[in-house]
Amino acid sequence: MNKVTEVSKIFFAYLVRPHLYPELFRKIFKNIFQRKSATKGKMEAEMWCANLAISQDQYIKQLNGNTETASLNDLFPEILVNAQKIEASTPVKMGGAGALDLIYNLCEHTQAKNALETGVAYGWSSLAALLSISKRNGTLFSSDMPYLGKDNDVYVGCVVPENLKSNWKLFRFADRESLPKIFREQDEFDFIHYDSDKSYNGRMWAYPLLWGKVRNGGFLMSDDIGDNAAFMDYCKQNNHTPTIIEFDGKYAGIILKK
Ligand SMILES: C[S@@+](CC[C@H](N)C(=O)[O-])C[C@H]1O[C@@H](n2cnc3c(N)ncnc32)[C@H](O)[C@@H]1O
Repeated sequence: MNKVTEVSKIFFAYLVRPHLYPELFRKIFKNIFQRKSATKGKMEAEMWCANLAISQDQYIKQLNGNTETASLNDLFPEILVNAQKIEASTPVKMGGAGALDLIYNLCEHTQAKNALETGVAYGWSSLAALLSISKRNGTLFSSDMPYLGKDNDVYVGCVVPENLKSNWKLFRFADRESLPKIFREQDEFDFIHYDSDKSYNGRMWAYPLLWGKVRNGGFLMSDDIGDNAAFMDYCKQNNHTPTIIEFDGKYAGIILKK
């Protein structure tokens, strides 16, 4: 597909979704005035991450008092195999599974009753959080808008099994619309996972807002922090000492609220 066809397809996908018009106007502004926002400071951020990073297994072990911990695949084999089958049979390709054991263990560690995530796609991170939160009959609040131009709306969250959906509230707007709606229902969270708008400006808008909603002893986690310098800059500007996790050649950052 050439660039003009692709842009037209995305533009029309926005037009038939009036609830996403505010995001359409922001996208137009970004494409005119913030074209380098996706990769701003990428090289420096990658070096910073590489210097600090530890593995997911190492961190989970540390989190759980140096005891070996079973992976989600071992704990919930049937659910995970079924989710993989659903992903394989989905006709549109979306953002795939990230550090699921990490998400599950952070929810377990905080005994999370309320968690928030931005970015759902197939719903792998939602599944990992829900497998923990549902034990306490808590709630996962998720914010997600579809991939425009892919018409994937009906497949968003498809790997989450029916029996976990009573613990899940999915807000299908851009974060800037979803988050205020979520905060009207729940103002403090044990665990927050940011995995939606990965641009420098998108992250720098979201991090302070989300950090203010993490309870003491809770965690803010962000994926793909080597994409640009936003997570690094945010930590440096606010004197946060994050833990950086290397996973599948990418980096996730975690900040504990003390
Ligand atoms: C990388 S995927 C999420 C993957 C998911 N967290 C997981 O680990 O399984 C990113 C998702 O965020 C959505 N997204 C991108 N920008 C967004 C925004 N500004 N507001 C809400 N959702 C957004 C994308 O359409 C996509 O569904």
